[in-house]
Amino acid sequence: MDRRRGGETVDRLMAQMTLAEKIGQLNLLAAGEGLVTGAATATPLAKRLDAGQVGAIFGTKSLASARDLQDRALAGSRLKIPLFFAEDVIHGHRTVFPLPIALAASWDMALIEATAGFAAAEASAEGLHQVYAPMIDVSRDARWGRMAESPGEDPHLAGAIAAAMTRGLQGDDPASPGRVAACLKHFVAYGAPLSGRDYDNASLAWEDLLETYLPPFAQGVAAGAASVMAAFNAVNKLPMHAHEPLIEGWLRGTTGFDGLVVSDYTGIRELTAHGLGSPATVVLRALAAGIDMDMVGEDYLAHLPALAEAGLDAPEAGLSVPAERVRALIDRACARVLGFKARLGLLDDPWRGLTGSPPAPDRAEGRALARKAAARSAVLLKNDGLLPHDPAARVALIGPLARDRANMLGTWSVSGRAADVTPLFEAMTAIAGRPPAHAPGCNLIEEDWLVDRLNVHGVTVTRDPRPEAEMLAEAVAVAQTADVVVVALGEAKEHAGESSSRLCPDLPAPQRRLLDALAATGTPLVVAVFAGRALALGGVDGRCGALLYAWHGGIAGPEGVADLIFGRAEPSGRLPVTLPAAPGQTPVSHAEDPTGRPWTGRFVKFRTGWLDLPGDRQPYPFGFGLSYTEVDYAPPRLSAAEAGPEDRVRLSVTLTNTGPRPATETVQVYLSDPEARITRPARHLVAFRHVDLAPGATREVVFEIGADLARYPLAPSLETARWVRDPGRIVLHVGPNSRDTRPVELTWRA
Ligand code: BGC
Repeated sequence: MDRRRGGETVDRLMAQMTLAEKIGQLNLLAAGEGLVTGAATATPLAKRLDAGQVGAIFGTKSLASARDLQDRALAGSRLKIPLFFAEDVIHGHRTVFPLPIALAASWDMALIEATAGFAAAEASAEGLHQVYAPMIDVSRDARWGRMAESPGEDPHLAGAIAAAMTRGLQGDDPASPGRVAACLKHFVAYGAPLSGRDYDNASLAWEDLLETYLPPFAQGVAAGAASVMAAFNAVNKLPMHAHEPLIEGWLRGTTGFDGLVVSDYTGIRELTAHGLGSPATVVLRALAAGIDMDMVGEDYLAHLPALAEAGLDAPEAGLSVPAERVRALIDRACARVLGFKARLGLLDDPWRGLTGSPPAPDRAEGRALARKAAARSAVLLKNDGLLPHDPAARVALIGPLARDRANMLGTWSVSGRAADVTPLFEAMTAIAGRPPAHAPGCNLIEEDWLVDRLNVHGVTVTRDPRPEAEMLAEAVAVAQTADVVVVALGEAKEHAGESSSRLCPDLPAPQRRLLDALAATGTPLVVAVFAGRALALGGVDGRCGALLYAWHGGIAGPEGVADLIFGRAEPSGRLPVTLPAAPGQTPVSHAEDPTGRPWTGRFVKFRTGWLDLPGDRQPYPFGFGLSYTEVDYAPPRLSAAEAGPEDRVRLSVTLTNTGPRPATETVQVYLSDPEARITRPARHLVAFRHVDLAPGATREVVFEIGADLARYPLAPSLETARWVRDPGRIVLHVGPNSRDTRPVELTWRA
């Protein structure tokens, strides 16, 4: 509870509230159809509001509807306790920025903070107080569709993003004008589901949890995040909505988090399907675990009154809780809900954030930021000198995404509008001053049943009825007339996102056939991939002269790509996830633990690897990305080769831009600990820095290295976990990505 603002009000309210009123505060409902004013009978939501049975609402679509709902809630609440309003604002609100995985590829925390700040201003102008972001699930499995929303595979990068987004959303105070409360999600290890299948459970070493999946949450909490959402999955057999040791133990106990924990959508009742007991039993488990609000399911509302009267004796579920303990848990949760409202300023003023002031920020400003963000998020994977193009060249634009709007928004853009997107065709036309020759070349996908599934949130995939051969022939003819062809390929927006796990995370088959046909023309190809995950591109790079990984870039995504294509922006994106070389090479990351027969990067009999992975297909590694210039790294140097545990050692590296164009280089430092008490990652990211280098410029970059960087957890269980650091040798690897590094050794004294 926030004692800085409203603590006394919370206590006063708690003293006056009935049990039913307290339970009502724990109920978090979707706006759905809203009130439907003038209807003969009240909507279910209206009835709940009239009875004082709603604590908050998410998914309102306008300031007016939020105000109506608040009005009704205040009328229905004896103590005049206001609602707060929440929404999924994942990568922008009306102004849709690149997907979170794309923004992560910018490695630019100031930029990420600015996009979150803009989204907060737009959301708050619409009466929202809380947004369900940032999503900070580390994700290493390209099959998992929610990689789109994630910060990628690395906890260090993810932690920096968690902090940057929290700062951007909340500013210094989530109650200040134009700001909203952040909600870190999904707690925890939602990004590590078995088989990459959404909602599936995670079984992992506690060390992995402590070192890989929890740190971004610690960073978000340290940055002041006011709320957290629980994850649908189980972690090591205990579903997160019942995970008291992780929620009350680690989150509140270890990080000191004192905000609000909300369930995910019907996540409490889903504990029954997880096998944790009857509806009443799972309600008690969730409440005891520290889930303060129940999203949509209304299970707290249905079961807590009786539980508070009689307690629960359920030996079959191994649970026996007296009534007064249940009431104490209800009080705990209710005080946290009220504390959150106090922190938002709502207990002082129920109309806080609902006055329309400050108004929404200038959309043109947001568009410019979105365009810059899109250019900085795209990752140049290959360039045989084809890019940038002279706008005067004869360029053709081919591919099923060349004129696309809706898919460019990317998944989880609930308040975005396809009409706001400038398609690549138009963006290129605007820069070149004339339209490129064009043909769609193929359909995005061919299967009817898959088209239906992809169109679940509105139609974004339509199919050209012509036979494939006819479309290919047309595209080939267009390619033959051009000096260079830009090929726009990739995924539909709902190929990624919630419940969109893919068995085969690669380019759909018709698009691969198109690429083969275009490659056969001999006209140089620039492939731009628009996708929501790390696709396996094995074979694609061999067919093109340049390859740009553009993700789903939001309303100005294609414009950012056009800026890069024509050299109006410099490529600086770096992969926040390893791109698998083949769809089956997943999960994959730069930070894998070595085996006794380590993977060498290619198949060797009797060593870790894949028999059927062709030797020429390497994944694009984490941290990788090219520029339109060359940056040379001198060997890294240390200020001391040996140091004591309290010392700071300076690691320096000198960079020179030896090419003709400016660069924004991302200098990366990885650490490996060759001798430890348990197997440690072959290497993992410990620091990075952006450096701007004009052509010909040289700069020295210095990192301060402390012994704490080499700490690691030993955790036979969560309860017995401890962090240790051994004296001895570590290796620091410095370079432009996780693979092409130079080592330097440092010995820590005891
Ligand atoms: C998702 C959450 C989201 C919530 C509310 C759930 O299905 O997992 O990320 O915030 O719905 O829309």
